[in-house]
Amino acid sequence: MGQRLTIEGGFKLNGTVEAAGAKNAILPIMAASLMLDGTTVLKNIPYLNDVSIMLRMLNALGVRAEYRIGDEIHIVNTKKIRHIAPYDLVTSMRASFFVAGPILAKVGFAKVPLPGGCSIGARPVDLHLKGFEKLGAKISMEHGFVQIECKQLIGDRHRLDFPSVGATENLMMAACLAKGTTVLENVAREPEIEDLGNFLIAAGAKMEGLGTSTITIEGQDTLKGIPSYPIIADRIEAGTLLIAAAITNGDITVNNIVLPYIEPLLVLLEKTGCTVERFENSVRVKGNGRPKAVDFTTEPHPGFPTDMQAQMMALLSVAEGKSIIKENIFENRFMHVRELMRMGANISIEDQIAVVTGVEKLSAAEVKITDLRAGAALILAGLVAEGSTTVYGLKHLKRGYYNLPKKLNNLGAKIIE
Ligand code: UD1
Repeated sequence: MGQRLTIEGGFKLNGTVEAAGAKNAILPIMAASLMLDGTTVLKNIPYLNDVSIMLRMLNALGVRAEYRIGDEIHIVNTKKIRHIAPYDLVTSMRASFFVAGPILAKVGFAKVPLPGGCSIGARPVDLHLKGFEKLGAKISMEHGFVQIECKQLIGDRHRLDFPSVGATENLMMAACLAKGTTVLENVAREPEIEDLGNFLIAAGAKMEGLGTSTITIEGQDTLKGIPSYPIIADRIEAGTLLIAAAITNGDITVNNIVLPYIEPLLVLLEKTGCTVERFENSVRVKGNGRPKAVDFTTEPHPGFPTDMQAQMMALLSVAEGKSIIKENIFENRFMHVRELMRMGANISIEDQIAVVTGVEKLSAAEVKITDLRAGAALILAGLVAEGSTTVYGLKHLKRGYYNLPKKLNNLGAKIIE
C-alpha cells in the first residue's frame, strides 16, 4: 500500500502559512522553456514529485535542467532539442504531454506517447491534436506514439470545442513560434494559463487577451531565456489550507495569495458560515462552529475548480444539512467518496452528482489515497475524525503538495509520517 501517515484528529488549527508555487503553472512553464534559447531561472518552485518528473523529461530532451537550493530551477538550452519524449515519463504524468507543442514548434517533428488513462477519468488529448492540425501539423499514430509533424507551423484562427486547460497551453506555446498570427477562441482561463502567457511574453512572445476566452498570438522566430521568473502561488494548496481552518473550527491566514484566483472558494466558505477576511496578498479564514451545507458545481475558471471538489466535500461531510455537489469536468472524480464513507461520511452518488448528508462526527479509519486531491480530502477529514486515521498511498499526495503534513503540524495538527 506504499507510504502512509497517521493523523490524530480533534485539534484546532491556528496560525499563518505561506502558499507554495503553483504546480499547474510550473509544469507547462518548464515545458515552454524547451523553446527558449539560453538560460532560464524559475523561482518559487516546491520540490514536488511532478516537478522531478518534468526535470527528468527536460534532461531527456537535451536541455540541462536542475533543481537548486532556494527553490529554483535552472534550465540551460544551448543545443538542438530531441524530438522523442520518453514513454515512462509521459505515461507516469499526463502533464508531460505539454512538451508536444514546444517540441513541434522548435524541431518540426514531435513523437510523444499517448498519456493514456488516468485514475480521475479518460482524459484524452484530441483537443490538443485538433489544434495542432489547424496550425498545419500532420498527425499519425504508431506503436502507441503520436507523431506530429510540421516543418513550419502556420498561424490560424481556431476555436476549442471545450476550454481544456492542457490544450489551451499546448496551443499557446506552439503558436509562439508559428508563422503569422494565431487566434485561439474558447480557451480556458485558469490563472496558471495567465502565468504561462506572462512567462512567454517575458521570453519575447507577442500575445494579447490573457485571462479572456480569446488569445491572439503573433508568432516570433525565436524566444529568449529569462534570468528570473517567479511562479504564481498555488491557489489549490492555499485553498486546501483554508479548508483546514474551516473543518477544524480554527483560524488560519494563508499568505502569498492572488485574491481573484481563489474567490470562488472564498464565496463558498462564507456560505458554510466561516468568517473570511481578504487582505492584499493573503486571506484569513475562521471557523464558526459546525459548517452549514452548500451546493456547488465544478466549472472551468472562474467557476469553482474541480481540483478543490474533494477537499470541499470533506468539509461538507461534517456540515449541518444536505449538500449537492455536481462534478462537471471529470467523469470519474468521486473516488474519495468511498474512503470518506469508511470514516463515517454519508454520501450517495448518482452519475456526476454526489449528495452529502452531513454527519456530526467522522471516525478514524484506515483509508487509501487514489489521486492527488483525494489525498488532501482524506487528510482534512482525518483532522476532525475521532481517533487516529491512517492514510496510505502518499505518493499521490506528493505529486502536488510539498510538505503538507509539516505545514499542517506547524498550525497545530498531529500528523506523523
Ligand atoms: C488541468 C490541471 C488539472 C485540473 C484540470 C481542470 C494541470 C497540470 N492539470 O488538467 O489539475 O484538474 O486542468 O481544471 O494543469 N479533455 C478532452 N480532450 C482533450 C483534453 C481534455 O476530452 O484533448 C477533457 C478531459 O478528459 C477532462 C476535461 O476535458 O474531462 C478537462 O481537461 P483539461 O482542462 O484538459 O485538464 P488537464 O489539462 O488535463
